[in-house]
Amino acid sequence: MTDSHHPPVGIDALALACPKAFIAMDTLAEARGVPSAKYTQGLGQEKMAIASPVEDTVTLATAAARRALETFDVDPQSIGTLIVGTETGVDHSKPVAVYVHELLGLPERCRTFETKHACYGASAGLTTSLDWIASGRARGQKALVIAADIASYGLNTPGEPTQGAGAVAMVIGEHPRLLRIHPNTIGDYTRQVMDFWRPLYSKYALADGHYSIECYLEALAGARAAALDGGDEVFDELLACLYHVPFVKMAHKAHRKELECVHHRPFDLDTADDQARFDASYQRLVAPWLSLNAQVGNIYTGSLYLALMDLIRQSQASWADRRVSLFSYGSGCGATYMLGQIAPSAHQWAGHCDPQADLDQRRRLSVGEYEAMIAAFERAERAEKLDPSDWGVLEGLAYVGTQDHQRQYRWLGRDALTPAV
Ligand code: CAA
Repeated sequence: MTDSHHPPVGIDALALACPKAFIAMDTLAEARGVPSAKYTQGLGQEKMAIASPVEDTVTLATAAARRALETFDVDPQSIGTLIVGTETGVDHSKPVAVYVHELLGLPERCRTFETKHACYGASAGLTTSLDWIASGRARGQKALVIAADIASYGLNTPGEPTQGAGAVAMVIGEHPRLLRIHPNTIGDYTRQVMDFWRPLYSKYALADGHYSIECYLEALAGARAAALDGGDEVFDELLACLYHVPFVKMAHKAHRKELECVHHRPFDLDTADDQARFDASYQRLVAPWLSLNAQVGNIYTGSLYLALMDLIRQSQASWADRRVSLFSYGSGCGATYMLGQIAPSAHQWAGHCDPQADLDQRRRLSVGEYEAMIAAFERAERAEKLDPSDWGVLEGLAYVGTQDHQRQYRWLGRDALTPAV
């Protein structure tokens, strides 16, 4: 997997930003009259991050990116490409990325744009960045790729328990400190399907839920075949299989598909042999990296990279050069399967990739507060003035209302000295 002609390229820094409130799945289940086991075991979720009216894709993306740059000591002036992958833009025309560009003080020579393909946008940004570096056009500069989304299906819908919100920022560069990705292990897949979409007139996603699961699994088989081109033996060397995780149980379904592809036969989980084989593989390669997804919920395009953060936060010196598979799926649909390799220095950065302390400080919402927050979020883009303290947001960047049709942002608390836009 190494190529002596080119320096290794991949993920050099990673950080998460998440809303400051969550709803617990058992609380939601009780309110919806559903056994809580359906959400906690059937879907595998514990909590869902819920964005307040003063948090949006710009604030989440900026917070994640700022944390990635600061924690990993990356000079903002070294960023030559900024891509925000999102399906929750704040404007039909103006990209989230250009707000982030200003808020982070990135250089004017930095190419900046937004990518949209449901949950696949950031992965398109990641592979584009790898290509940009490999082509030589980057000339030593790095790319900043941010996956930022607020997943909204609406109250009392089947998708409601698969919501969430958050942003994962990644710095992509040569000699990466966390994960190398080799271009000849990347495979893509595209097919026009109506499994999940959001018409221009709707705040909420529409989904043909069970069909979307089928589409996801077909895309996994297709992208995997394109990536490995029959080289299934690589599976035996894997340290981890990371998947797009709209809800934790989806990774379980994905891994079963993966084993079916490896063994070229169906896996029948009703038979003791297949069940034992599957369980051993799932517990070793998949389950240990799903805790962040279980606590945050669906962050759409960032979900795969949340699982990657969970892996990196646990990394050990002995994992150097071990391979991991990554599968990204975006409804509609587009997908990529790729192999990564743990960088020898990754374990030294494990603590820097651990957002647990922040997650533990979030505010737990009652169902009444959750429903009020969703209603206020819906009205927020037309509000002239919003007070972040009304929503318990006292630090960082906040959306504070729209004046003259222009969104306003303000740094708060100890960040207040940062220039406002
Ligand atoms: N105890 C334990 N488990 C229970 C249970 C109980 N009391 N009751 C139900 N379950 C289990 C079910 O058996 C099922 O598990 P399996 O699929 O493993 O059999 C699970 O809980 C869910 O039950 P249902 O399928 O009956 O649930 P549902 O019909 O209400 O909807 C859903 C589930 C289709 C995922 C729905 O939440 C949805 O539409 N979500 C949005 C679409 C989505 O997330 N699609 C994923 C693929 S597309 C994608 O990945 C892109 C993206 O991010 C959107």
